Amino acid sequence: HEILILNGPNLGHLGKRQPDIYGSQGMNDVPALVDTLLGARAKDIELSFFQANGEGELIDRLELAREQGIAGIVFNAGAYTHTSLALADCLAWIGIPCIEVHISNVWARPETIRHQSFMAAQVVGVIAGFGIDSYALAVAALLNRFERS
Ligand code: DQA
Repeated sequence: HEILILNGPNLGHLGKRQPDIYGSQGMNDVPALVDTLLGARAKDIELSFFQANGEGELIDRLELAREQGIAGIVFNAGAYTHTSLALADCLAWIGIPCIEVHISNVWARPETIRHQSFMAAQVVGVIAGFGIDSYALAVAALLNRFERS
């Protein structure tokens, strides 16, 4: 099963960006975290990674994922989570199961705009607040779903 890990704006420098909020690990650490979490089951998945700061590039990548027959998406849309009807519209039609992830617990943060998500209605579920582990947990959730369907 090929899984796309898609990151939106300001997530290209994870590990350096506000480490007090987003931690000091980067996306390079995700494959090892997935291996630790999934053990031998990790062989059943192939991860690809993409990050873009622009909304249009993210939509283009999601449309490409559909053409490629990608099995599942782990998507941290960054601030677009809270603003982008365009990205939500894209998730609504491409027909790929998607898990919304956030590194921080967005509902525990003081800016109330972070408590709402345009993505949430178009995804299988949301994983937030586990730091970089949020991505590995989402990969595991997708794999469970594939194995049960
Ligand atoms: C984030 C939370 C968003 O509110 C923020 O705009 C981000 C990162 C997270 O992973 O915690 O860029 O999605």
